[in-house]
Amino acid sequence: MGLIVVSNREPYSPVREGHELHWKAAVGGLTAALDPVLRERGGTWVAWGDGEREIRSVELPPGEGRYRLERLPLRESELQDYYYGFSNRALWPMSHYFLNRVRYLGRYWKAYQRVNRRFAEAVLQVHRPGDLVWVHDYQLCLVPRLVREALPEARIGFFWHIPWPSSEVFRTLPWDHEILEGILGADVVGVHVPEYARHFRSCCRIVLGYDNDGHAVQAPGRAVRVESFPIGVEAKAFAELACSSEVRRAAEELRRQVGTPFLLGVDRLDYTKGIPERLEAFAEYLGRHPEAHGKVTLVQIAVPSREQVDAYRQLREQIERLVGRINGTYGQAGWTPVHYITRGLERRELVAHYLAADVMLVTPLRDGLNLVAKEFAAVSERGVLILSEFAGAAAELKEALLVNPYDYDGLARAIGQALSMPEEERRQRLAELKDRLHRFDLSAWTEGFLHALEGAR
Ligand code: F6P
Repeated sequence: MGLIVVSNREPYSPVREGHELHWKAAVGGLTAALDPVLRERGGTWVAWGDGEREIRSVELPPGEGRYRLERLPLRESELQDYYYGFSNRALWPMSHYFLNRVRYLGRYWKAYQRVNRRFAEAVLQVHRPGDLVWVHDYQLCLVPRLVREALPEARIGFFWHIPWPSSEVFRTLPWDHEILEGILGADVVGVHVPEYARHFRSCCRIVLGYDNDGHAVQAPGRAVRVESFPIGVEAKAFAELACSSEVRRAAEELRRQVGTPFLLGVDRLDYTKGIPERLEAFAEYLGRHPEAHGKVTLVQIAVPSREQVDAYRQLREQIERLVGRINGTYGQAGWTPVHYITRGLERRELVAHYLAADVMLVTPLRDGLNLVAKEFAAVSERGVLILSEFAGAAAELKEALLVNPYDYDGLARAIGQALSMPEEERRQRLAELKDRLHRFDLSAWTEGFLHALEGAR
């Protein structure tokens, strides 16, 4: 059976250097997770072709050609209203409970409908009888229904990678009916955490009046299975990379350069990730622990994204001010408390950072799952994971130090606890985390979802 993956973001972006064109892996959890799936199974990936509009189709990964990417060019106005508008000013903040940031504009909704139609048409062009269609995320909620209308017999899966909110919040969306009906065109709807599945089913009941039957939603004439399938990471590949001499040398070099034990944050620069709150908590910790001055550093990597949305630009400025304030207040000759980096890291460099870090801070205010937490636990040999209870991963990673990221005092205390945790306890917690990550890895996730899809109806 052929597989067609559909997502907004393409897995590799074209980058021109002089006359040469390179395909560079995109930043972001979803594409990083699906690339290995298609590498392994082959198939077609349909996505927005960001840049180099005339290249409509390309074999990927570069040089290996394991699958075909069909690229859909979007006009600047479509991008503004569909991607920056409806996706990232309406659905994203709403789903993460940031109602003070939502902009529900009819113009955005129209573009979202139009672009979803174009994605559905692109799927119809490549679909062959028997293919599985796997649509991803909040940018493409209408695609399952549009494909279903044209191909009533198709097997369609939909995966929602961000939090599904409570119906109280979801109902603020003026197009709540349409979004739900769009998704219910699928046979199987996946989310990361049982809580989100429960919320989704109750939205279907409250907004559309559709009964739930166990894990299924009873839409007119069809039952749609709605379940949690928490995504995993390539635990073995990460662990192997961490054993390579090149990565180990890089990790040692990094520790030497930082010069003190260090806390690490790795995030897309997004207001859901809790970066200012984390910096405030670190400042709180330094304020309470003068003996730690010069002895611990925070390395924060924050990769800019969606910069055309005001909230993201303002956040970047806010973080820069905070970093400046902390370094100005506590820094001394030879010690800069916060190392702030806005460059994305290649996988090897990233693994070297995980390996070198003493404490990993994953403290989003809300997050669908958070793959960084899992990657760190798969790699680290002696570090402590501090994890927000509002990240989906917290439902599984119980051996982390779970924190409320809004509570600066609690977070500052957790930093102290992590830094002074006995070696034996660190290793014990990591061993249990690793055991789970290896059992429920990325291929288990893919197989679990596709198995459910193949078995649907
Ligand atoms: O599911 C969240 C997500 O869509 C993931 O692909 C990734 O973590 C991030 O958001 C990427 O965002 P964007 O494609 O808007 O840069």
